[in-house]
Amino acid sequence: MKERIGIVTGGGDCPGLNAVIYAVVKAADRRGWETLGIYSGFDGLLSPVQARPLDYREMDGLLYLGGTVLGTSNKGRFTAKIGHGETKAIDPAVLAEAKRNFDALGLRALVVLGGDGSLSIGLQCMEAGIPIVGVPKTIDNDIVGTSVTFGFDSAVSFATDAIDRLRTHAQSHSRVMVVEMMGRYAGWIAAHAGIAGGASVVLIPEIPFSYESVVKKILEREAEGKHFTMVVVAEGARLKGGDFITQGGSPEANREARLGGVSFIVADEIAKRTGKETRATVLGHLQRGGVPTTLDRLLCTRFGASAVRLIDEQKYGHMVALKEPDIIDFPISEGVSKLRTVPTDGDLIRTGRALGISWGD
Ligand code: F6P
Repeated sequence: MKERIGIVTGGGDCPGLNAVIYAVVKAADRRGWETLGIYSGFDGLLSPVQARPLDYREMDGLLYLGGTVLGTSNKGRFTAKIGHGETKAIDPAVLAEAKRNFDALGLRALVVLGGDGSLSIGLQCMEAGIPIVGVPKTIDNDIVGTSVTFGFDSAVSFATDAIDRLRTHAQSHSRVMVVEMMGRYAGWIAAHAGIAGGASVVLIPEIPFSYESVVKKILEREAEGKHFTMVVVAEGARLKGGDFITQGGSPEANREARLGGVSFIVADEIAKRTGKETRATVLGHLQRGGVPTTLDRLLCTRFGASAVRLIDEQKYGHMVALKEPDIIDFPISEGVSKLRTVPTDGDLIRTGRALGISWGD
């Protein structure tokens, strides 16, 4: 019988999941291994098991298809993160059932495509006896150990395009446009897209803001005869001394808090303080859809091929990671030990300041 490995996609979807599946299946096949797709996230390992072999000949087209053909989930019995990122132990009975089914499927190891939540689930599976290797996925780009996660570039590219489109509107109507971007507790998407899109104000969780500072920048532009302003706000941005803005009040039980809505509050306050017409646009899940960019496709292909290599080398409990110019392996426990946030003394922030971008501080 052929060696068999499994592959599972967990947590939020993002561009590039299918590209990694494509690369893993192809690279495994070339080693003579069969890849079993586990469907509906980790739940697919629970009875009744949802799994089927993925034939490398079916992989054509997956390289550039958004979403995940395996399906995914970020809630339910396999939740490892709740509230504002607190770790939660998965029920041992659930892990034991997954391990039994993993063994019954004849799997040697499981490739886990996930962000900090799903990689943390993977680690708990590993402790329960399921050998795993990880592939760091998330538009948030907040995993330690890799200079970039897959999905991030595609999200930034979309968000930058959105700024470009909203700028023509802001300019035509002499308005302030506030654009809210995802990223949870890290401001990577907002900082990258904000700079690439030429925004004047960028508010990120790492730098608590004040309205005085935001308004000062808008009024400076007015004085220069620029009657419009682009303001980028990360969903996790918060006022100095303030709290995160979440949707629907208290976080739902057994899942992470849903951030969102800060742009409406910021837009209202700007309008009040400046008298300028101000509108908010939330990019939301549009940032997680569509085809992966060229950069993401390449990264996913490299990540997928390296994940198969890690299994061959039995580097279980490790994830693939980009450390230019190589793909290295990195312990998942360290990768998810804390969130990788934008360094406030780093080049991104410095670049913004050099160009006169206000970070709201
Ligand atoms: O982690 C990816 C992400 O898109 C975050 O940027 C965002 O806060 C969250 O997921 C949204 O989760 P959901 O799709 O469950 O609302």
